[in-house]
Amino acid sequence: MRVLVTGGSGRLGRSVLAALAEAGHEPVCVDLVRPPAGQVPYESFAVDLLDTGECYSVVGRYRPDAIVHLAAVPVPFLRTDVATFRTNTQMVFNVCQAATDLGVGTVLAASSPTVIGYGNPAGWQADYLPLDEAHPTRPWHAYGLSKVVAEETIQAFARRWPDRIACHAFRPCFVVSPEEWDGAPTQTGDTILDRLDRPELAAVSLFNYLDARDAGDFVAALLGRAKDIPPGEVFFVGAPDAMAREPLAELLVEHAGVPAAQAAGLTGSSPAFDSAKAERLLGWRAKRSWRTELR
Ligand SMILES: NC(=O)c1ccc[n+]([C@@H]2O[C@H](COP(=O)([O-])OP(=O)(O)OC[C@H]3O[C@@H](n4cnc5c(N)ncnc54)[C@H](O)[C@@H]3O)[C@@H](O)[C@H]2O)c1
Repeated sequence: MRVLVTGGSGRLGRSVLAALAEAGHEPVCVDLVRPPAGQVPYESFAVDLLDTGECYSVVGRYRPDAIVHLAAVPVPFLRTDVATFRTNTQMVFNVCQAATDLGVGTVLAASSPTVIGYGNPAGWQADYLPLDEAHPTRPWHAYGLSKVVAEETIQAFARRWPDRIACHAFRPCFVVSPEEWDGAPTQTGDTILDRLDRPELAAVSLFNYLDARDAGDFVAALLGRAKDIPPGEVFFVGAPDAMAREPLAELLVEHAGVPAAQAAGLTGSSPAFDSAKAERLLGWRAKRSWRTELR
């Protein structure tokens, strides 16, 4: 399949491009910024997907079978709330609309676990743990809200055009690139060792994480099954364990204000996010853990 990967020059995009090529697809990187010349063996094209005309133009140019939409303001508070909301919501709409009008069969879009609403300084409690896709969303910042809208957009297109396009969304946990296991700074500027040594750092995202290569494999698995599963599915995509040396039954109580009775089931290395749906519907399970990758 020819697959446009929006945001392909980014942290997640690089691994998604590699996994798709490995799975026998023909990935094309479309991004505001092209990857450095000669560094990636894929075709790439510079485009501002926020511009509806440019979005249509690039989809028309490549006529892909599928689009994996990763391009976004990728974290909370990186830009103004207005820019974050407008960029992320308009861009996913542009991609879905252009894909539907121009005959693209599949759109997969990156959402975020932050839609659940943890980290709200005004208070947040889970209804239950571990968190799964049935848990209510309670966004409190523009980024989380934009990702709720992105999921709703995907589901609206899936509902309206069930025979024309397969659309799904996925919520990757805190993505760790391969070089970060060797000590390179993570997206929050600290290192993986810092996050293990100082649990308050990883507590902000409830100790979730995901190796970028596992994220790439997830996208390849979802692409392969996109037309066989119910329309408009949403998936949590996380590592099989927590980014922590102690059980979350203790750490969530101490560092995230979770009631002890609610965290009690998270013994051993159990994570706070449940990716069982991905395993059930797609046969995907993360292969890499900090326990096997950290050097
Ligand atoms: N990295 C994580 O831990 C994580 C976790 C959850 C969700 N996500 C989501 O995954 C996706 C990828 O995240 P990432 O970490 O790779 O981010 P990143 O910033 O490394 O990559 C995002 C890419 O999108 C591109 N982009 C931004 N605006 C664009 C536009 N108008 N037109 C074209 N391209 C544009 C950027 O140039 C960049 O290369 C995002 O949607 C993000 O919200 C990431």
